[in-house]
Amino acid sequence: MQAIQISNPATLDTMRVVHLPNAPAPGRGEIQVRLRASSLNYHDYAVVTGAIPVPAGRIPLSDGAGEIIALGEDLTQFAVGDLVVSTFFPDWANGGPQDGGFTNVPGDGMDGYAREVVTGLANWFTPAPRGYDAMEAATLTCAGLTAWRALVVEGAIKAGDSVLVQGTGGVSIFALQFAKAMGATVIATSSSDEKLERLKAMGADHIINYRGDTKWGSTAKKLTGGRGVDHVVEIGGAGTLPQSLAAIRVGGHISMIGVLAGFQGTVPTAMLMGKQARVIGVTVGSRRHQLDMIAAIDAIGIRPVVETRFPLADLADAFRHQESGLHFGKIGIEI
Ligand SMILES: NC(=O)c1ccc[n+]([C@@H]2O[C@H](COP(=O)([O-])OP(=O)(O)OC[C@H]3O[C@@H](n4cnc5c(N)ncnc54)[C@H](OP(=O)(O)O)[C@@H]3O)[C@@H](O)[C@H]2O)c1
Repeated sequence: MQAIQISNPATLDTMRVVHLPNAPAPGRGEIQVRLRASSLNYHDYAVVTGAIPVPAGRIPLSDGAGEIIALGEDLTQFAVGDLVVSTFFPDWANGGPQDGGFTNVPGDGMDGYAREVVTGLANWFTPAPRGYDAMEAATLTCAGLTAWRALVVEGAIKAGDSVLVQGTGGVSIFALQFAKAMGATVIATSSSDEKLERLKAMGADHIINYRGDTKWGSTAKKLTGGRGVDHVVEIGGAGTLPQSLAAIRVGGHISMIGVLAGFQGTVPTAMLMGKQARVIGVTVGSRRHQLDMIAAIDAIGIRPVVETRFPLADLADAFRHQESGLHFGKIGIEI
């Protein structure tokens, strides 16, 4: 089967297409999946460019979707032909966050889904939403579930809430879609006026260019009539947190998700205290969260935004496109 492997040093230029032996037949408790699609996340980019070190030969990509082609003995949870989507933490079935970091995260601590066929435990996958194709399903593992966990699990979002989303990457576009589907008002930012218009067309109630308006957090607060937003989906991190704190209402919630504006920095602690805000670190979610999200998608019917697609063999070019920052929503990989 065709696959992509990371070399040493890990760079986009040293990533290689390889032909590996076929995946083994599934044993008890296992399924075999013909992967059809994946999608890119910033985490995958960090792996393939060496920012997150992995052994040479690692198969990248945390997201994978495709159809089941064989079942292990006595497995009744799935049927051959089912469309399934991978989980980010295969060992985190339910309950609170688990210790163990990224040891068993596909495309990081273990081989991921930049390959044609995989054999693994049935719990590595969940069913895909009804009516989704493999490409749509493959956007949910990381970006979709992170947005879901931020707003629904940690934020307990409800109709009438206000949400601030930052930029137009995978997580933020899902956050916009979930927030609108749940009856929230959305304030969305981008560095590009053209992308801001697209956000508006998707239902964003207010838009701010964060390059042109460096006090975008204060502007967002004004847009709520001075009260502040109920939720911030924080994908910037160190460089954006001060403005997120300016935007948040007293007692609001900030899900700390990303590092696009820095890995560490100064925290305005007095403002955080004064706002009595709840800042919570979020790393994707459990299989239970994914099943809940998929049930919700079945009910509300949102469709992921897959802006560009690349064949698996052109994975390095797909990451170059991600690097350019020109994308809107998800970049898909066809397998
Ligand atoms: N903790 C978790 O569980 C988790 C899960 C998924 C992702 N993440 C993290 O979340 C972040 C986003 O991931 P992603 O996969 O959605 O990335 P992505 O699709 O590559 O998003 C890139 C977009 O983010 C926007 N952006 C970049 N710098 C920004 C800034 N300073 N302020 C506001 N927006 C900015 C830009 O949008 P415009 O072009 O519109 O300006 C850019 O196009 C990454 O740091 C990633 O590691 C964390």
